[in-house]
Amino acid sequence: MREAREAFRRFWPLTRGDRGWMLVIVGCVVVSALAETASILLFAELTDNALEAGSLSAFWGPAGAWLGVAAVGALVGYLGNSLATWTAERFVLRLRANVFGHVQDLPPHFFQRHRRGDLVERLTGDVEAIEQLVVSGVVGTISAAFSAVFYAAAALWLRWDLALATFVLAPLFLLAARRFSGRIKQASQDERVADGAITSVVEESLGNIVLTQAYNRRRDEERRLDKEARAWMRASVRGARLSEMYEQFVEVVETLCVLSVIGLGVWEISAGRMTLGALLAFAAFIGYLYPPVRNLGQLGLTVTAATAGAERIAELLDAQPSVKDPDVPVPAWPVQGRVSLHGLSFRYPDAARASLRDVTFTVSPGELVLVTGASGAGKSTLSKLLTRFYDPDEGVVRLDGVPLTDVPLEFVRENTALLPQQTLVLNGTIRENIACGRPGATDPEIERAARSAAAHEFIAALPDGYGTHIAPGTAALSGGQLQRIAIARAMLRAAPVLVLDEPTAGLDSVAARQIVQPLRRLMSGRTTIMITHDLSLARDADRILVVDEGRLLDAGTHDELMTRCAAYTRLVEPWSEPAGETTARKRLTDDTLVLRL
Ligand SMILES: Nc1ncnc2c1ncn2[C@@H]1O[C@H](COP(=O)(O)OP(=O)(O)O)[C@@H](O)[C@H]1O
Ligand SMILES: [Mg+2]
Repeated sequence: MREAREAFRRFWPLTRGDRGWMLVIVGCVVVSALAETASILLFAELTDNALEAGSLSAFWGPAGAWLGVAAVGALVGYLGNSLATWTAERFVLRLRANVFGHVQDLPPHFFQRHRRGDLVERLTGDVEAIEQLVVSGVVGTISAAFSAVFYAAAALWLRWDLALATFVLAPLFLLAARRFSGRIKQASQDERVADGAITSVVEESLGNIVLTQAYNRRRDEERRLDKEARAWMRASVRGARLSEMYEQFVEVVETLCVLSVIGLGVWEISAGRMTLGALLAFAAFIGYLYPPVRNLGQLGLTVTAATAGAERIAELLDAQPSVKDPDVPVPAWPVQGRVSLHGLSFRYPDAARASLRDVTFTVSPGELVLVTGASGAGKSTLSKLLTRFYDPDEGVVRLDGVPLTDVPLEFVRENTALLPQQTLVLNGTIRENIACGRPGATDPEIERAARSAAAHEFIAALPDGYGTHIAPGTAALSGGQLQRIAIARAMLRAAPVLVLDEPTAGLDSVAARQIVQPLRRLMSGRTTIMITHDLSLARDADRILVVDEGRLLDAGTHDELMTRCAAYTRLVEPWSEPAGETTARKRLTDDTLVLRL
């Protein structure tokens, strides 16, 4: 219950703007209860005066009034329930936007550590569960409590002695709710976790279908799904069984109550202390008393189940972005493109060892600098620090002499275009995919960028040309073609600094060389930092930095490094052999290419 309170306190502020409506809904419940009471009393009057007396003239008045009351009750019930759904969904909308917005800012390692399916489950199922706790929970509790008190009062008013006699059984409801709630919460939490696991397995499996088929992994994948699906089934069945047990138990207690009312009623009527109409009205009040009491009991269960979802959402919201905007940012300026790193050290959160250690170098505006080194040397990490996905633990990255931490994040991203290692595709047309580099770009600009990226020809050859629809994971285009679209996107962005992480990884050496010249043309006067172990580009670079185990080993031109850097000559070796063999060796050493297989 403490967790439920905490969860409630955390998400209640999000109902701001809906609280007025929640009050209106409770108002509707109150009016409904009044209407029900009126009709019960009218029913008692009909029984005693019209039915028992057999008088038609006594029928019309109460009947008309009853019809009127029923109409009002129906209208208010309709309004209240529609409004309740609307308010609840509005809350879900707002909460989901809120959580989604937060997740957008989280650092790369967060997404590497959480399975996609689990995140999907949190943003869908769990978000809805919180609504049960906050909006429906509050409205439901107030309404049920009001109805319970109201009908109990009505029963007491009619016959306090009889009412008290039937209330004796009430604690049984609470006892049952208490006994069941903990176990139901556990079952529902297990169910959500299993739900997320199933989504993850399906997602991973579909994303990896080639691996599955090529390596005959079908059975393993099926076993994986089966395991999660069984866990889900167990939790789901357990939850349903517990709920059902509770329901049926309550049912029996209710029957007990009804029987005691009838028993007492028979006694009273035979002694002439009560009319039949009054007894029926009394029984009706007691009958109306059950649903709200039952709801109150069940509400505890819903709340505990919802708390499970709330805790999972809270975990998302507690994950912090790795970088944040400065309080007092340096005003924007026309960026020249001088990038300097000083004493840079960085360790991923929770990683055992540092991925970068004491890296210092400066790139002048317009320079093309290559960063090379073995797999795992820290090259991609360097690109993440240059574009401020992370802040260094020690040292500083400067743009035109200003630390990146002193300018707004948007300014950094506007001025440094990143072409990451994995090709990123937006769900949309090729035109939109290129234009997202600079929203508002015109068609000729898009085409020019595509030409520079050596992408125009294959795009123009497609039946729908630039209007061809592509989406993440769809294979209408080859890896190299997608990469060239990504390059066109980065080119269109035309930021003064360009950071490329293995841009030629998916291209053969001919295509790779085709990229270099357009790159140079377009990037003249702009700073380009290209991470690559494709050293066929080495001679084009103004400077080459050799990274090894997070350290900057050496820096210089290709010729300088050949004479003095053993690590570099080892890296170059595969490219200095006869052409035919070169490509084969390159493919083997190219880890991204192996991954794509
Ligand atoms: N999210 C992460 N959490 C922990 N360690 C990481 C993470 N990403 C990369 N690393 C580690 O940092 C080192 C450098 O990785 P990376 O920069 O990707 O190398 P590469 O030079 O191949 O691009 C590697 O040892 C890798 O295991
Ligand atoms: Mg890398």
